Amino acid sequence: MDNVVIEESKLAGHYDSVSNVQFQLGCMLIERMRIREGGAVLDVGCGTGRLALYLSKIVKSSGNVVGIDPSIHRIDIANNKLKNRMLQNVCFKVGSAETLKSFPESAFDDACYSSVFHWINDKKAVLKETYRVLNKGGKIGITTINRDNLHSFRAVMIEVLGKPPYAEYAKKGEGRSYPATMKELETLLAKVGFCEITVDCLIKKRHYDSPQKLIDFYEASSFGNFMRSVPEDLQANARCDIKKELERRRTPSGIELTSNIIFATAKKM
Ligand SMILES: C[S@@+](CC[C@H](N)C(=O)[O-])C[C@H]1O[C@@H](n2cnc3c(N)ncnc32)[C@H](O)[C@@H]1O
Repeated sequence: MDNVVIEESKLAGHYDSVSNVQFQLGCMLIERMRIREGGAVLDVGCGTGRLALYLSKIVKSSGNVVGIDPSIHRIDIANNKLKNRMLQNVCFKVGSAETLKSFPESAFDDACYSSVFHWINDKKAVLKETYRVLNKGGKIGITTINRDNLHSFRAVMIEVLGKPPYAEYAKKGEGRSYPATMKELETLLAKVGFCEITVDCLIKKRHYDSPQKLIDFYEASSFGNFMRSVPEDLQANARCDIKKELERRRTPSGIELTSNIIFATAKKM
């Protein structure tokens, strides 16, 4: 069963304004992928289109970028951005990693999964389809959260929601993402047939002033899945408990969390 829903509307606009971290990681990813002028790029889970628009400047007018996302609200925001620009080389469509069959074989030189892959349940099937739509020599690039990270916001959530009175609801896993470990990702990429696989991670301590801002950020980043397992009448209490747990991690520099992001790239043989 898939635990994830795509059902936000107001969160989409908020995500656009708070997603600098994901955008910067996405820019680092495309640098590692060495995406070039003239390339045809698929941006899977493009969100509100920030990275796709940046990509369109890299591939220039001889290349093109297709951004897909299952959230119609995010695609609307991305399409609205196109209205004020004279860009012919980028388009946005509603779609998901699970529906790549709408693209022909060998349609793209590169496929990006920026801050998306942990939301995908059947990772092997999606990687197989990505392999199919890539040209020979084409590259896949992934940034995703590392399941081995014990000091993340996700770890705080799991800890709080793992206790009564939330535990009985949270154990169903609704709304929870499916992060992989570095080893799992490497093995999957190899099984599907990718070569020249690189998998490493960027570990960074980050400091935050306000637990509320952190909650807002993660709520916008999880497009309707934040605390979805918790009944509505318990959600206010759960938020308070999460804030208390975050406050316990306050240092003189702010609330300290560690982000541990996997960067993976690989090539189609
Ligand atoms: C954290 S946002 C990342 C957005 C963008 N790639 C970025 O770097 O800012 C995750 C995005 O993944 C999308 N998403 C969730 N499940 C997906 C799936 N199965 N296939 C493709 N996109 C998905 C969500 O709608 C959301 O826009």
